[in-house]
Amino acid sequence: MSTNTVDNTRKVTTRRLSEMKQRGEKISMLTAYDYSSAKILDAAGIDCILVGDSASNVMAGNQTTLPITLDQMIYHAKSVMKGTSRALVVVDLPFGTYQGNSKEALASAIRIMKESHAEAVKMEGGSEIRESIERILSAGIPVMGHLGLTPQSINKFGTYTVRAREEAEAQKLIEDAKMLEEVGCFAMVIEKVPAKLAERVAKEVSIPIIGIGAGGGVDGQVLVMHDMLGINQGFSPRFLRRYADVASVMNDAVQHYIQDVKSCNFPNEKESY
Ligand code: KIV
Repeated sequence: MSTNTVDNTRKVTTRRLSEMKQRGEKISMLTAYDYSSAKILDAAGIDCILVGDSASNVMAGNQTTLPITLDQMIYHAKSVMKGTSRALVVVDLPFGTYQGNSKEALASAIRIMKESHAEAVKMEGGSEIRESIERILSAGIPVMGHLGLTPQSINKFGTYTVRAREEAEAQKLIEDAKMLEEVGCFAMVIEKVPAKLAERVAKEVSIPIIGIGAGGGVDGQVLVMHDMLGINQGFSPRFLRRYADVASVMNDAVQHYIQDVKSCNFPNEKESY
C-alpha cells in the first residue's frame, strides 16, 4: 500500500500510528461524541476519533471545557465506542480529574477504560502532570499528551491566542514534548503554536505529533467535527477549514418540514398506515 492511501479495513492501534509516522503517512483525527457520528467517521476511514472535552462546548453549550464531568465523558465515550470498529478511540480526561494527584488521575483513567472500553486517554500539560502520566502508563493505559494551547487552563492564560511565540515558552514546549516521549506517551496533540515550532518538535521526537492550528509540518491533524462540518458556526479561527455547511443544510430541511406540516403536505397517503 502506498503512503497516504487509507486502509479501511485494518484496526488502527497506537503501534500503527507510530508506523505511520515512520513511513511519513499523515494521521487523520476528528472529534465525535455520539454513536451516529462515530459510525460515519469510522466508515469514512478516519484513523483516530477523539472524544474531546470540547463536548462541553459543542454538545452542552458551555463557554469552556471546564464544566464537563468524568461521568459525562464516559457517557460520550461509550456511545462513540458502539459506533466505531476501525479507528483508535482516545478520550479526554476532563478538568479536575487528574491534576490533583497521580492516584486520582489513575482512578479517573481506569474508569474511562473500564466503563467505555475506549483505547487511550488524553491529558493536557507537561512537566506539571508528569507523575500522573507515568502512573497511568504504568497501568498499561496508553496516554496521548496535549501541549501548546491547553483549553483546560484558559483561566490561567486568559486568552485563546497562539501559544509559545516567545522563546521561553517555546523552549518549555520542546522540553515537555521530549518528556512526554521519554515517559512513554504514544502521541501528542500540539494546539495553536507557530508552524515552525511544531515542525521542529515533530522532527525531534519519535512519537506522532497531531496538530491543530500548528501548521502542516507535523504528523497528523485534528479538528473538532462540529467546526469542520459547519454545524458550529460561531467559531472561525484562521486554522479552521470548513468542509461543509451542515447548519444551512439542516436549516433548509427543517424549514421545508415546517412548511409541509403547516400546509398538510406531510404526511401523505404513502407515508400513512
Ligand atoms: O477537546 C478537544 O476537542 C480537543 C481538540 C481540540 C484537540 O482537545
